[in-house]
Amino acid sequence: MCGIIAYKGKENATSIVINGLKHLEYRGYDSWGIVYLNNQKAHLLKKVGKIGEFQGLNKLSNSSVAIGHTRWATHGKVSVVNSHPHFSSDKHIFVVHNGIVENYKELKEELIKKDHHFVSETDTEVIPHLIEEYRKNNSFVASCEKTFRRLKGLFAIVVLDKETGEIIGTRKGSPLVMGIGDKGLFLASDVPAFLNKTNKVIFLDDGDMVHIIDAGTYKIKNLSSKKILKKKIDIIKWKQEEAEKGKYPHFMIKEIREIPEAIEKAVCQDNQKLSLIADLIKKSPNLFFVACGTAGHACLAGQYLFSSVGKHTGFSAASEFKNFLPTLDKKTLLIAVSQSGETIDAIEAVKRAKEKGLKVLSLVNVMGSTLTRISDYVLMINAGSEKCVLATKSYLSQLSLIILLFYSIFNQSKKGEKDLKKISRQINQLLESKLFISKIKKLARKLSSTKHIYVIGRSYNFPTTLETALKIKEGCYIHTEAFAGGELKHGVIALIEKGTPCIIHLSKGEEEENTLINAMELKSRGAYIIGIGNKKQKDFDFFIEVPEVEEFLSPLVNIIPILLLSYYIALEKGIDPDKPRNLAKSVTVK
Ligand code: F6R
Repeated sequence: MCGIIAYKGKENATSIVINGLKHLEYRGYDSWGIVYLNNQKAHLLKKVGKIGEFQGLNKLSNSSVAIGHTRWATHGKVSVVNSHPHFSSDKHIFVVHNGIVENYKELKEELIKKDHHFVSETDTEVIPHLIEEYRKNNSFVASCEKTFRRLKGLFAIVVLDKETGEIIGTRKGSPLVMGIGDKGLFLASDVPAFLNKTNKVIFLDDGDMVHIIDAGTYKIKNLSSKKILKKKIDIIKWKQEEAEKGKYPHFMIKEIREIPEAIEKAVCQDNQKLSLIADLIKKSPNLFFVACGTAGHACLAGQYLFSSVGKHTGFSAASEFKNFLPTLDKKTLLIAVSQSGETIDAIEAVKRAKEKGLKVLSLVNVMGSTLTRISDYVLMINAGSEKCVLATKSYLSQLSLIILLFYSIFNQSKKGEKDLKKISRQINQLLESKLFISKIKKLARKLSSTKHIYVIGRSYNFPTTLETALKIKEGCYIHTEAFAGGELKHGVIALIEKGTPCIIHLSKGEEEENTLINAMELKSRGAYIIGIGNKKQKDFDFFIEVPEVEEFLSPLVNIIPILLLSYYIALEKGIDPDKPRNLAKSVTVK
């Protein structure tokens, strides 16, 4: 939710910030803005719409310091006035902000009494005004400190002072990372914003305040302890190409094509660490998974997997976790799964679990993210940069790592690695097959005008049906509902009319026969049956063949045609698959 980028240095800050915003657009894309200093003047530019569409960089003057923001609206409608940066009455203090200032109303009232005039509907605007108020009797640094201490809520904030050209940033619950370049310093919500300039980073912790004085000088202080901190510089291993579309028209298709590599990287884990975590899982009498959205579906697949061998395993959407916490004790291992590591509900669930004394293992993609810092154990899913708002390769990475952990508890991690690498090669063959792709495109054309789709699966593929429905809803704006096959006759079947498209996920195993019976029942009520499995069946009107694999591994292959289907339906309907409406890649606010 919202992306922040700031730069101070010897290169042109205006173009660095504009380009950085383009890399951050997946975090919010309803409006954007930048302020840069040139000849002691502050130049402010704010626009509604996507920054990717902005062509006017060459009309902006160069600068050595700039801050920018791409917005996902929370307080106040989408408008130029509400977009960031926001500024003080004298236009000397500029602020970009990600998160929510919970006590903004009382601060606003206090400032209005002191003759501050507000122009936007946002919570953010109180920040520059409060700094301005403190600035009357304090230095820029002290004014920011005093202001940050008064803000309630979760946020990342970057402030630019027109007088000194200095930048100050802080975080509490929302991400903010510092980049250390040879020619300047960066602050951003996420590393890809400046990865083309530097891979040296400092991950700021909650309560840290960084003061960028010039191109190479900065100070980091903790707001509570007031101590100056000397923080470790990390090196990011993601390649810049991963954060670029390259030869692909969209990140979505690029990231789908990267799935085979993502699976290989997910199973490439440090053996010692893996066996330590496998021991931990073995010793824990209970496992409980938490996550949101797609990551939640990977968790649900994990619940089926571990339950199948008698391990007591629970799952809840992270936002619902507090309802189940009373049933869990210190012996439970909580497993949190998240691509971004910044999803607010997952973070809150982990914090609550830790307060109760549970140990937490997190499976995360983004290095240095909040979840990696607050968990007791962390395994990286190693998917690489994922920019498309729809999670694709990260889902496969999450599933693969969970499956690898499953193998590991039987001391079979090597076999797990081998089996998963084989699947990665099979998926690669599918993705390279022209026939397979043209079949999916044909189905996409057929489904693009449909209003409803139903998805049926059982057992290990019940989570696949949920993920199928989510991908088609969010990427194609088609109402899609998922059901466990056994639920069909308990109500759902009433929705089936002549021609209603129904996707059936099939895999070898105990439930194959029952799922086929469901297909038959749907077909006899007029449904158009789209079967995904390894053998064409007589009731299928449309069949998509995926490799035959063991039942518990089938979620990995069955989801592949769906990811492509969602992509191609989006194209058919003229939807930008990378940035569907109303969404943002990481949900960092409640
Ligand atoms: C769907 C999607 C979301 C995320 C969810 C959790 O395609 O991307 O449902 O899976 O917001 O995000 P992370 O994994 O970053 O915690």
